Formats: sequence, structure tokens, C-alpha cells
Amino acid sequence: MSDDDMSDRTGNLRWRLREETATAHEALERDLAWEQRIASLEGYRGLLGRLRGFHAMIEPEIGRALADDAFFAPRRRLALLDADLRHLGLSEAEIAALPRPEPMTLSGPAQALGALYVLEGSTLGGKVIGRRVAALHGFDAEAGAAYYGGHGDQAGALWRSFCARLDEAPEADAPAIVATADALFEAMRLWLCAPAGTAAA
Ligand code: HEM
Repeated sequence: MSDDDMSDRTGNLRWRLREETATAHEALERDLAWEQRIASLEGYRGLLGRLRGFHAMIEPEIGRALADDAFFAPRRRLALLDADLRHLGLSEAEIAALPRPEPMTLSGPAQALGALYVLEGSTLGGKVIGRRVAALHGFDAEAGAAYYGGHGDQAGALWRSFCARLDEAPEADAPAIVATADALFEAMRLWLCAPAGTAAA
């Protein structure tokens, strides 16, 4: 993160989110074992499959609870996961049959923003993973590594407009936004790091 980004921390909800979810981020980063998983094509496919299940569960719920399609549409990444999985040889039926976690219910825009913070933030670290996938397997954002290409050349603009949106949120919403972000980090950790083949009951 640049000094520029950190220049106005006080009262900044994004900064508070970063601080209060730092432990959850570390736990996810640690348990994900991404380097080990993407080392083989099979492991990479397995990781994308788990991510696909998670996005298939949470994206429609964020869309419903946020109720702002113009803002959310460019941030949806389920189609990117599907494209990558197709490139890796999965059929439509196999993609649709991938396991999903237990549904999460978001009560409204505040909880939706908290959940979206986690997904949007994951595009930042995801770039590191994308570069590694490209080096190992020769994929790129056009084919095979679209998900980890993040938002491509829109990444900076989308992240800045997301942070601006956080800072417009009413102060009263802050506890719900932070609590939901923390809960989503933990839900993602449990789901992505669960033994292969685990599905919601
Ligand atoms: C699914 C897994 C992950 C999720 C959900 C996630 C989520 C996040 C979030 C929410 C942020 C934004 C923090 C802020 O407010 O500045 C972030 C930033 C970051 N993450 Fe992750 N992350 C994940 C995995 C990783 C991994 C595996 C790495 C290491 C390669 C990583 C490295 C980073 C880095 C370096 C930043 C800061 C980027 C910057 O400020 O430019 N993340 N991540």
C-alpha cells in the first residue's frame, strides 16, 4: 500500500476495515496454501472450483441486498470463474454441479458492502496469484486466469470508487459493515480451505 493511500486514515471506514479484519486476512492467506495448490493444474482447478461455489452463493445475495446494479455489475466475477473452468476442461454441467457453501443472508446495503469489501480486496492480492499462475501454466486474463486477472485495467478505478462508496456510508452502518466483512473472511477461509469434496449439507 502506498503512503498516499494511508494519508487520511482517521475516521476512514476502509482503514478501519483493514485494521479490524487484518487477523482474518492473515488467517485466510496462511491457510489458503495457494502456492502449493496452484503448483499443479489439478490443484489450480480445484481452487477455482471452490471459489466458483463461493461466488455462486454470495454474488446473487450481494446483488439483492445492495440493490445497486450499476455499482455491482462490473464487480461480479462469477462469469470469469466459469470461463476459466471451461478453459480448464470442465463442462457446463460439471461447473453447475460444483459444491456451494451454506447460503448467507445479508440484511441490506450495509452488510452487502461489508461482504463486497472482502471480494473486492481479494482482487488486490489476487494479482500476485495471477502472475504466478501465468508463469507456471501460461494462462492469462484472456484464457485460464481471468478470475485472477482481477478487474484488469479497471482495477485501480474500481477499488478507488469502492473505497469512496465506503466513506459515504452512514457512521451508524459501520459496525454492520465491519462485522459482515469479518464474518465473510471467516466463511471464505472455512470454505476454501475445507477438504476437497466438502459441500453444504
Ligand atoms: C480469498 C483470499 C483473499 C481475500 C478474501 C483477501 C482480501 C483482501 C482485502 C479485503 C484486502 C484489502 C485491504 C485494504 O483495505 O487495503 C486485501 C489486500 C491485500 N491482500 Fe488479500 N485477500 C486474499 C488473499 C490474499 C493472498 C493469498 C495474498 C498474498 C498473495 C494477499 C495479499 C494482499 C495484499 C498484498 C493486499 C494489499 C494490496 C494493496 O494495498 O495494494 N491476499 N486482501
